[in-house]
Amino acid sequence: MHPKILAAQPLVTELKKELRHRCEGLKNRGVTPSMCVVLVGDNPASLTYIKNKQKVCEEIGAHFKLIQMPASIAAQDFLSELNKLNQDPSVHGIIIQLPVSESLKALNIPNLVNPEKDIDGFNGVNTQAIYTGTTNLKLLLPCTPKGIINLLNYYGISLDGKNVVVIGRSLIVGKPLSMMLSNFNATVTLAHSKTKNLKQLTQLADIIISAVGKSEFIGSDFLAHHSSQILIDVGINSFDGKLTGDISKEAQDKSLAFTPVPGGVGPMTVISLIENLITATENQVKG
Ligand code: GUN
Repeated sequence: MHPKILAAQPLVTELKKELRHRCEGLKNRGVTPSMCVVLVGDNPASLTYIKNKQKVCEEIGAHFKLIQMPASIAAQDFLSELNKLNQDPSVHGIIIQLPVSESLKALNIPNLVNPEKDIDGFNGVNTQAIYTGTTNLKLLLPCTPKGIINLLNYYGISLDGKNVVVIGRSLIVGKPLSMMLSNFNATVTLAHSKTKNLKQLTQLADIIISAVGKSEFIGSDFLAHHSSQILIDVGINSFDGKLTGDISKEAQDKSLAFTPVPGGVGPMTVISLIENLITATENQVKG
């Protein structure tokens, strides 16, 4: 049996249609959803991610604005710019693109964005819902976890009672994702660079989610022999000038199903962000 490819495209097409419709509804009420990305410095990977966000934002009819600041910006100046955006009623969604420069590392970046405009879903006010056990994916929750859970659901893959190994404990992916999966009744192991015997853990998993950032990190030896495992690849790496994930071709071939790179988790993350923008705008209009 060939493994199934869990492509994002059919679900993204469906969601774009729905979001375009919700965006139209807001425009008919005199409000154009508007997203603002704050980029400190000029990290080339960040610029690529931002372009993807801009493209989908404009495709559904929303406004997009990039505010670029020098890497050397003083914390005080950064905070004052951000404050303006937090208070500006014509801006509905704000992202501080990570990583930020060294000059800002001491700031508590996730909590600086107005929680109503926090379309990344990183602010403690929004992440609290994860801790208290929500399964409501319509809230402003982190985009990569939301995208992964929506994609699994779209392909009819239940999380109930499943053993899931998540590799990587970042603020953006691993931490929120592990807890959200648990809210959907998965049994979750959150593994990381210090985990011992990682292969033994992944061999026992029903679903393996890799957010490591190393091409070919997951070889076929991470998998069990029975070809019944599902692989979710969050990696975005460059290898021989090509975009690759963390999961090798050999591991994909041995799986039951896998998300491709490109065309899997990446587009799900972006569409979840745009969904958060529309939700945030609707909430603010109601507000
Ligand atoms: N850098 C890489 N991914 C992300 C993301 O989802 N949000 C932000 N703000 N920065 C990122």
